[in-house]
Amino acid sequence: MSNIKAAITAVGGYVPDYILTNQILEKMVDTNDEWITTRTGIKERRILKEEGKGSSFLAIKAAEQLIKKSNLDPKEIDLVIVATATPDMKAASTAAYTATQIGAVNAFSFDLEAACSSFLFGMSTAAAYIESGRYKKILLIGADKNSSFIDYKDRATCIIFGDGAGAVLFEPNDEGFGLQDEYLRSNGEGREFLQATFGGSSYPITADTFHEGKHYVFQDGKTVFKNAVFNMADVAEKILERNQLSQEDISWLVAHQANKRIIDATASRIKLDDSKVMMNIQKYGNTTSATLPLLLHDYESQLKKGDNLIFAAFGGGFTWGSIYLKWAYNS
Ligand code: UT7
Repeated sequence: MSNIKAAITAVGGYVPDYILTNQILEKMVDTNDEWITTRTGIKERRILKEEGKGSSFLAIKAAEQLIKKSNLDPKEIDLVIVATATPDMKAASTAAYTATQIGAVNAFSFDLEAACSSFLFGMSTAAAYIESGRYKKILLIGADKNSSFIDYKDRATCIIFGDGAGAVLFEPNDEGFGLQDEYLRSNGEGREFLQATFGGSSYPITADTFHEGKHYVFQDGKTVFKNAVFNMADVAEKILERNQLSQEDISWLVAHQANKRIIDATASRIKLDDSKVMMNIQKYGNTTSATLPLLLHDYESQLKKGDNLIFAAFGGGFTWGSIYLKWAYNS
């Protein structure tokens, strides 16, 4: 292992303007604010309404915000990774379009898909490239337009998901800041519990399946919930043990925002006080690949150089994991 670590050196974020509140959802499906709030912690989510705009629109906005804030010359970016479960189109890379639009003309780029763990696995990928010494500036963007495959007549899913994007820049650090350890897992037996069955290569959409709404996302919420609670807490605990970190050593839990009860269960398993748990699910719902960078974006001003961050995520597939990262700067 080299002594170069991969540190996050800048953060950006973007959510669309349109706010879909619980009150609006009450008029669309048989639900109510009280049920949604107590079962999920969500009050509102953002939706990208404009026709013809996909996840790249969100990704570009988040990246542009990062570039402006940090005075980064996009020509210096070596690699752009777009973590997304909702690419703009089939066959054409969303990352390639994003990179060109933001002026990263000297970068190569690719999409990375691991459902709600896409950004977490992207952190591992970006860090490995940096640690190899081959690349110096990697832009990792998590972007999802979940509204593109949600059935707004299905109360089991439409209350949960929202659209958004967050971006981070990874750079080499020789002072010990950056990604310290990771524990990443997957289990394909989970696929049947969370998927959009039609529209992929197994089952292309037909007129019949379209009318039956089988291209929309389906979730067996209870099973996903149980697996998320067990596995996210399990990997976070493993990372703590392996790095001999006590509760006092941890500055923040940065957990995927799928359900407040899952985040609370993870925090409670590692005995972490609420004040150390980043939370913005009430504003954005589950933005899939964007939850982790949007947390960093919202909490950036509170982060201090040397803070120990524990990331954790769980998603479709199943995919899940935890990452331990030492924050590299004061903002
Ligand atoms: O990011 C990817 C990973 N995804 C997740 O981690 C999501 C994991 N799952 C969850 O967050 C939860 O399972 C949900 C929020 C999706 C559902 O919460 P739950 O506590 O598991 O509810 P449930 O599905 O067991 O439903 C309980 C009751 C049912 O009624 P009965 O059978 O008890 O009469 C549902 O029909 O609540 C009913 N229900 C609703 N009621 C009002 C289900 N959805 C709604 C709704 N509004 N939107």
